[in-house]
Amino acid sequence: MKALILVGGFGTRLRPLTLSVPKPLVEFANKPMILHQIEALKAIGVTEVVLAINYQPEVMLNFLKEFETKLEIKITCSQETEPLGTAGPLALARDKLIGDSGEPFFVLNSDVISEYPLKQMIDFHKAHGGEASIMVTKVDEPSKYGVVVTEESTGKVERFVEKPKIFVGNKINAGIYLLNPSVIDRIELRPTSIEKEVFPKIAADNKLYAMVLPGFWMDIGQPRDYIVGLRLYLDSLKKNSSSKLATGPHIVGNVLVDETAKIGEGCLIGPDVAIGPGCIVESGVRLSRCSVMRGVYIKKHACISSSIIGWHSTVGRWARVENMTILGEDVQVCDEIYSNGGVVLPHKEIKSSILKPEIVM
Ligand code: GDD
Ligand code: MG
Repeated sequence: MKALILVGGFGTRLRPLTLSVPKPLVEFANKPMILHQIEALKAIGVTEVVLAINYQPEVMLNFLKEFETKLEIKITCSQETEPLGTAGPLALARDKLIGDSGEPFFVLNSDVISEYPLKQMIDFHKAHGGEASIMVTKVDEPSKYGVVVTEESTGKVERFVEKPKIFVGNKINAGIYLLNPSVIDRIELRPTSIEKEVFPKIAADNKLYAMVLPGFWMDIGQPRDYIVGLRLYLDSLKKNSSSKLATGPHIVGNVLVDETAKIGEGCLIGPDVAIGPGCIVESGVRLSRCSVMRGVYIKKHACISSSIIGWHSTVGRWARVENMTILGEDVQVCDEIYSNGGVVLPHKEIKSSILKPEIVM
């Protein structure tokens, strides 16, 4: 089987992290987002993943080369010369996606995280016999997603409305699709949206079916959702492979610590924290609901909550970093600084406190 991952877009909502690497390579729970997906695809027998990309394909391919061998999966790029939206890339990658077998293929948005119940999705797709299957999930705030109205008993999609202005329902498109090759015949090679132009038509032909996604789901393409997603992911890890989580008197709730990270005496870490490779956390540090990327240095008695600390940054002694502070790569936060929601661009030095949420350039 084959799969296409939509990796276009500039990831502006995840700046300043995406100033250093493309969004799909930003680590989530100590692993680049896209690897969560590639591993899940490999696990159910996908042999080739096509990355639909519109900028910096070299960065992505160089990075993934190592995993191509490690995971024994073929990874290729289909590069757009102009952004083709969420459907155009399928037409562009037509020859890569359609083999002789007539098998369906997966399409994934690159910024969603879940337990990827792809095997169940294949069974669902075979059972309904339609042209396309999409995963749906329930959310409290459906207006920022694609909303799907289904026939309760069969899952047949009656309406698909992208980013509705008025309430149509609370089941939304989770960005995980299984499509028959015939779907590509419906798509022209031009910038076009699968949500606005393709799904509504397949639904009108009574050939679009939605499966309610079991387990958690989150679009982690913006900081607040990324932190919520981390909590949901770690909860699920606790249920399914709890041995991966850290244990000890200094740990509270679900915490992931890379084996090469060093944690000092008297720290209190958790809940919902990920600490990446090579990090140094000195004594007396307090961390909760945060993601600490590779090579970060946190000095004594610093306190970090609800924040993302970018690669190789330093947080000074007694510093307090909170409320969706996002530090880009290689930021230096001086001793005793307070950051309340500061969004700090790469390579900056913060010498005075950030008292209210703002971007520091
Ligand atoms: N190759 C390519 N080219 N990829 C693109 C392009 C493009 O021009 N534009 C967007 N993408 C990719 C993004 O990188 C992302 O992986 C995916 O397509 C969806 O784009 P987003 O910008 O993240 O869309 P969204 O989050 O507002 O909405 C989408 O996702 C929701 C679930 O998270 C829609 O599919 C909604 O219906 C859905 O509910
Ligand atoms: Mg998104």
